[in-house]
Amino acid sequence: MLCCCMGMAVQAQELDVDKELAYCHQQVLRALEELKPYDYHMQPRNILATDSHVGWNVRKASGWEWCSGFWPGILWMDYMATGDKQVKKAAEGYTQGLSRIIKDPIVDHDMGFLIHCSYGKGYEATHNSSYKKAILRASDSLATLFNPKVGTILSWPRHIKEYGGHNTIMDNMINLDMLLWASEHGGKPWFRDIAIAHAATTMRNHFREDGSSYHVAVYDLQTGRFLKGVTHQGLSDQSMWSRGQSWAIYGFTMMYRHTRDAAFLEQAQRATDIYLKRLKETSNDWVPLWDMDDPRGYQGAPKDASAACVVADALLELSGFVGGQKGASYRRAALRMLSDLSRNYQSRERNVAFLLHSTGHHPANSEIDASIIYADYYYLEALLRLKGAITQK
Ligand code: GLY
Repeated sequence: MLCCCMGMAVQAQELDVDKELAYCHQQVLRALEELKPYDYHMQPRNILATDSHVGWNVRKASGWEWCSGFWPGILWMDYMATGDKQVKKAAEGYTQGLSRIIKDPIVDHDMGFLIHCSYGKGYEATHNSSYKKAILRASDSLATLFNPKVGTILSWPRHIKEYGGHNTIMDNMINLDMLLWASEHGGKPWFRDIAIAHAATTMRNHFREDGSSYHVAVYDLQTGRFLKGVTHQGLSDQSMWSRGQSWAIYGFTMMYRHTRDAAFLEQAQRATDIYLKRLKETSNDWVPLWDMDDPRGYQGAPKDASAACVVADALLELSGFVGGQKGASYRRAALRMLSDLSRNYQSRERNVAFLLHSTGHHPANSEIDASIIYADYYYLEALLRLKGAITQK
């Protein structure tokens, strides 16, 4: 069937989830082969467009390396999808490779990305009580960055001076998932209060009139007053950095899952509606430019497949919460994103990642048009969600 949308004709093809999951499994096996002999402390991070090798570039797991938890998470998801014992063994090893992070003093807000995306998936797969203990301990640690005067978790202690205050980045919303999960699984009950306060404060200050978001919100350290919204990884303070917006969509959808607070559901939709509108105006498919305001447009600006993965994943869940015609339109959008990613962005024989064409930190000229581990993580999570294998994290 041909339908007219996104300002062009789009082939609305069925997405074969099982075929794409099988592809992901093959890439996981190839990646594991390339990573031999395993050093479980070295976690896959990226494969650059300029790299001539097919395997992952790895980095030492630490609190400073925010992507350390995605590879163990991918392995756990792949294990849950396939039951492959070799993958399970690797998942256990790479998860163990993160244990130091929980014991070390916390350096910034990324604890949820690091521990919930890894140990959390491991717990989902095995119900290993030591994984739950690790998540509760990491949550204790993350909670120490909460500033009650501001009402949010401090993202980057090391950048307080640079930003002129308490800084909170939109990405931080994802870390709340761990706090909420912990409060529901024997952790401190006030983890939930912290998460709700953080989301409510973010909702008040982090968005512009049209529902697009700042990357960084800066607050007065003493009074907690909102001072300004600026960017770190986007094109400009007022531009829409695609992945930042994707964190907002995912983050408020997740908040609604845990709280059933209608205000969070509404915020998730506001963030989605402007994202889809701008995507339609600026992209030639369902994968956004790295920043929606890059004047080069899709013929010159790099894309960010990772943002599309995060949004598709979130919209599959949000569509169920919203229901009706609007919910159905979100689901259709998610399917088109996954379909474009699967048809035109897969790495296949080029390298062992699932996907190409993500952008990490454009202003720093870092990881542009690359395979990046978090794109693969959210792509796989979205496929599993579509298959019905994930109903609740
Ligand atoms: N959390 C950092 C990023 O999205 O690049």
